[in-house]
Amino acid sequence: MPDFDLSIRGGTVVTASDTVRADVGIRNGRIAAVADRIEGAARSIDASGLLVMPGGIDSHVHLAQPTFGGPKMSDDFLTGTRSAIAGGTTTVIPFATQPRGASLRAVVSDYHKEADGKCFADYGFHLIITDPSPSVLGQELPALVGDGYTSFKVFMTYADMVLNDRELLEVFDCARGCRALVMVHAEGYDAIQFMTERLERAGKTAPYYHGVSRPEIVEREAAHRAISHAELTDVPIMIVHVSGREAMEQIRWAQNRGLKIYGETCPQYIALTADDMKGLNMDESGGKYVCSPPPRDHASQEAIWQGLQQGVFQTFSSDHCPFMDGVDGKRSPKARTSFKWVPNGIPGVETRMAILWGLGVDKGRIGMNEFVALTSTNHAKMYGLYPQKGSIAPGFDADIVLWDPNRKETIRQELMHGACDYTPYEGLAVTGWPVMTILRGKPVCEEGKILGEPGDGGFLKRGISPYAAK
Ligand code: URP
Ligand code: ZN
Ligand code: ZN
Repeated sequence: MPDFDLSIRGGTVVTASDTVRADVGIRNGRIAAVADRIEGAARSIDASGLLVMPGGIDSHVHLAQPTFGGPKMSDDFLTGTRSAIAGGTTTVIPFATQPRGASLRAVVSDYHKEADGKCFADYGFHLIITDPSPSVLGQELPALVGDGYTSFKVFMTYADMVLNDRELLEVFDCARGCRALVMVHAEGYDAIQFMTERLERAGKTAPYYHGVSRPEIVEREAAHRAISHAELTDVPIMIVHVSGREAMEQIRWAQNRGLKIYGETCPQYIALTADDMKGLNMDESGGKYVCSPPPRDHASQEAIWQGLQQGVFQTFSSDHCPFMDGVDGKRSPKARTSFKWVPNGIPGVETRMAILWGLGVDKGRIGMNEFVALTSTNHAKMYGLYPQKGSIAPGFDADIVLWDPNRKETIRQELMHGACDYTPYEGLAVTGWPVMTILRGKPVCEEGKILGEPGDGGFLKRGISPYAAK
């Protein structure tokens, strides 16, 4: 009887802290040994010339999420997680979204039905709180945190989701009590409404004006307000999808004051700019790049790099939120009347790791260990999955990506495995690419060929985040 089910031999193991030439032995879906030389496995994979890194964890994706009357999201759990594993990501955390008036428990149960038996990658759920009623904050939310849904997101904009300041304070206070980690979408609703109406009155309705309607100042103001509320209620928060210097500096300022404020950024803020939305009419489809906060400019990209290099951002997530580029999505008849109806969000779960490697590690902006921290380890730590996920050491789940740091690829739609009909990164040339993805010891994707099956991925009940309130 062999000692191991699988060995990965001849590669270089890269974790958030170390880079070592080592073999990896896997037994029962877990890493059983990391050693100079491992013999005696039922199957062996030759990883010579490759990096052996923890499978990606994408802690910010939207799959099969209700859009409250807007176009349907193009990825469900099956296609979204298929896309994830093709890009080297083995765990995703999408959002169970509470429509106003709904019970959180019912929302979670329905979302499980969407996911059950369909996933190629492991998954947990964050919650989205839109209606912080006394029963939600008093009973449902604390009970769900105890059941492994240990983080939730709140919105400072979007008519169907926005919380006012009093509600934010109540929710933050509840998070402190039940030790949930709060994710904040920081853009100010009233300022965006004001700007949108002003632009529409001037006939400025093309997709490009989406970015003009929510400039960095709107994000900065909301980030500062969220930080102030967090300080007042003494609760740590994570400000998600930070787009540029203004919000990044607010987070850095708060961190320098000793506050537990964390930050996340995403590929669109290092790879796209507002100019991408400049298809000045709907036929040129600037709508393909419409997301919130919107991509900014090259100076903002540099600020995001500073935030990544200085540790202001703990996580690099995709904010995968896919809509078709057609009449069912970005160019619906309603969306053609104004940018304000273009569904917000872009696909990215499959390209996240290749973009950070290509623009970051390959260009010398960050190191390999920082790459692992930003794409995997820190997500596991932040969201209560560590030490099950997020590293390569005995006892961890054998979630692994074999990475070719020299492989040159051009991102293009024909390489993608999701259901969306475009990638906003079409034509982006990168060096560094995933060649095999392994989920709990099972190779699930090799050279873009899906080997896994729906149902390989399982639900992850998460622990309390060590970054949440003590
Ligand atoms: O435009 C975006 N980011 N849509 C996804 C929803 C969100 O706010 O994360
Ligand atoms: Zn958001
Ligand atoms: Zn999002």
